Amino acid sequence: MTQHAPDKAAKKLFIKTYGCQMNVYDSQRMAEAMGADGYVLTEDQADADMVLLNTCHIREKAAEKLYSDLGRLKPLKAERPDLKIGVAGCVAQAEGEEIIRRMPLVDLVVGPQTYHRLPAMVRGEAPRILTDFPEEDKFDHLPGPRATRRAPAAFLTVQEGCDKFCAFCVVPYTRGAEVSRPVDRILNEARDLLARGVREITLLGQNVNGWHGRGADGREWGFGRLIRALAEIEGLDRIRYTTSHPNDMADDLISAHRDIPALMPYLHLPVQSGSDRILKAMNRKHTADQYLRLIDRIRDARPDILLTSDFIVGFPGETDEDHAETLQLVERVGFGTAFSFKYSPRPGTPAYDRPEVEAGVADARLQELQALLTRQQKATQQAMVGRSLTVLFEKSGREAGQMVGKSDYLHSVFVQAPRAQVGDLLRVRIVESAANSLRGELLD
Ligand code: 5AD
Ligand code: SF4
Repeated sequence: MTQHAPDKAAKKLFIKTYGCQMNVYDSQRMAEAMGADGYVLTEDQADADMVLLNTCHIREKAAEKLYSDLGRLKPLKAERPDLKIGVAGCVAQAEGEEIIRRMPLVDLVVGPQTYHRLPAMVRGEAPRILTDFPEEDKFDHLPGPRATRRAPAAFLTVQEGCDKFCAFCVVPYTRGAEVSRPVDRILNEARDLLARGVREITLLGQNVNGWHGRGADGREWGFGRLIRALAEIEGLDRIRYTTSHPNDMADDLISAHRDIPALMPYLHLPVQSGSDRILKAMNRKHTADQYLRLIDRIRDARPDILLTSDFIVGFPGETDEDHAETLQLVERVGFGTAFSFKYSPRPGTPAYDRPEVEAGVADARLQELQALLTRQQKATQQAMVGRSLTVLFEKSGREAGQMVGKSDYLHSVFVQAPRAQVGDLLRVRIVESAANSLRGELLD
């Protein structure tokens, strides 16, 4: 398959991705960039010529994982000193050369805005630490995707960074200010993905619904308008997006959920807390009631929409009463699923120095919230039983003839479909709900 001369025999690259979907997308682009330099991906770290860890800084635990993984790489590096070890992503951005000081086995440190220079760094033609926010757009300097087939569901980053400055969050510092990619680049990348077998695109951004840009018609477009333009592209069967801020749910985006069949009935809309006092301390700039009224408007537009959210428990100053208000909000909304986290103080953020809630108290609150969210998840899945949905098949399952795919509502669905192929979008009747997936039967 490769056309490289023997002296450029394929080297092997192992990438480990931590954190959010933005990182999954970035890892893919880095793999493509390195591919242009003769590297192929390997699943086997022990066999790699280069190990790249694409890291997450959002909570302390996520950041510490990098150091334990680097520790585990020591014997491999001792055995093969020519093994290259690179650290990319948000820890790279936040800690820069500190990483090499702490872990001298690291050869390269590259931030999320500079990874187009990774191949040059590996060749020794660029500094070994690059974590600035360059003037140029990395996407202009990355090799165009190669004409290889892709899995049927793909990510496409349309927006990066965040200007919201929630008091707990490192993203405005690690990913920088909000930047929207231009319309034509996004549409071209979408067309390219479709030509390579993709049928479902998830638009990504730290604050994706804050995306804006100038359309082909010369007008200023909001995110809803972008989705409308994407939906017109032949062959794009499903559109999703994540992650959104409640204050950027514009009317045009809400009505897109009513008007556009390809826009899937699923919305991840983090609220973090149900207490106005805590929302204020978090600098979320909305109240619990405003969130609930927003949810009503979204459900008016798309009654069956599945809602998910993020929650932080134990934010500094959170009382039992505040926590009870979070539980109430969850009861009121009824989420399909949600992520909940114990507050983790992050250096450099406004909340870092505030007095912490006692760990035991925060743990108990987390358990209580998670129990409620699990009940809601079960109920949501159970309500799917008997319904016919579409499933986009992404891979074969463990049993003979079994396929696994995602429903409109993003549930994993296992189906006996011996003649189906990866990439088929078929109608399925849901017959059973399991812990984290559904079972269905082919209808056609
Ligand atoms: N501590 C705990 N959770 C956090 N999140 C972001 N920052 C922190 C933090 N310092 C959570 C939020 C966010 C999700 C991606 O991670 O809930 O929505
Ligand atoms: Fe983690 Fe945020 Fe970076 Fe994603 S953007 S990898 S969640 S720190």
